[in-house]
Amino acid sequence: MKATLHGLHRPLGRTGLQVSPLGLGTVKLGRDQGVKYPSGFTIPDDAQARHLLATAQDLGINLIDTAPAYGTSEERLGQLLAGQRENWVIVSKVGEEFEDGQSRFDFSPGHTRHSVERSLRRLRTDRLDVVLVHSDGNDIAILQDRGVYQTLAELKREGKILAYGLSGKTPEGGLLALREGDCAMVTYNLEMRQEEPVIDYAAAHGKGILVKKALASGHACLRPGEDPVRRSFELLFAHRGVSGAIVGTINPHHLSENVARVAAILNKNT
Ligand SMILES: NC(=O)c1ccc[n+]([C@@H]2O[C@H](COP(=O)([O-])OP(=O)(O)OC[C@H]3O[C@@H](n4cnc5c(N)ncnc54)[C@H](OP(=O)(O)O)[C@@H]3O)[C@@H](O)[C@H]2O)c1
Repeated sequence: MKATLHGLHRPLGRTGLQVSPLGLGTVKLGRDQGVKYPSGFTIPDDAQARHLLATAQDLGINLIDTAPAYGTSEERLGQLLAGQRENWVIVSKVGEEFEDGQSRFDFSPGHTRHSVERSLRRLRTDRLDVVLVHSDGNDIAILQDRGVYQTLAELKREGKILAYGLSGKTPEGGLLALREGDCAMVTYNLEMRQEEPVIDYAAAHGKGILVKKALASGHACLRPGEDPVRRSFELLFAHRGVSGAIVGTINPHHLSENVARVAAILNKNT
């Protein structure tokens, strides 16, 4: 029988959202410049992207991660997810823009509001489930400036977003982000575990954790030894603070393989 994640969804902290333990990252649906994957790739066409999303849904995935900085990702998802909005928990971001092959950052209140309203239009929806601040690495300075978080809190009160937090790069930033925010996106994989204290804090305080780069952007899959993909997921799901891992694949076979690994681990743990 095909392994799926139906029945294995879990709460994203106290947001009220229930997410699949594996989510779909969509950098590769919209951008092929300035990325650090082990090998080159071709951005999927609409038929391939539609098949990928249908496969994800069939496998019990309801979590999808995008960002204004992922090229055409948001706009394409708006079109591809038309008519199935309610089946998905959509995570997007604010703060980073990617233009002409270059990243530019703007965490001002004006840009934050403009960016969220633009994401709503691009994604053809009236609410984003989660919005994360897309850090440039200066996590603490971004949050201490207050503008971006205050604007996200306002947008939450207005009902345009359901939850917010930080996709950061430092343990200190993740911890600060969780004091007021609902969730954090952290890097956590076989090679990088510096942000583990953020996951510990989230577990103790009912906050949500989404893991990015769970497979070290694909480099973990090339590690020597038995089944590095399984070992990567075992590491994540051994921590009760992890709500879900966003894995950025455009290959439906990898997607099924990843779902089978995660389902086996979680079913063994229950
Ligand atoms: N907020 C941020 O600052 C930030 C930064 C980075 C990423 N993210 C989010 O997190 C997502 C994931 O990050 P990521 O894409 O950098 O890294 P990742 O999920 O660790 O790795 C993705 C890479 O692994 C490969 N892969 C996946 N499953 C595989 C399998 N079973 N066997 C072999 N290779 C496999 C994929 O190639 P195939 O396509 O060939 O499967 C892809 O190149 C992104 O898409 C994005 O949504 C956020």
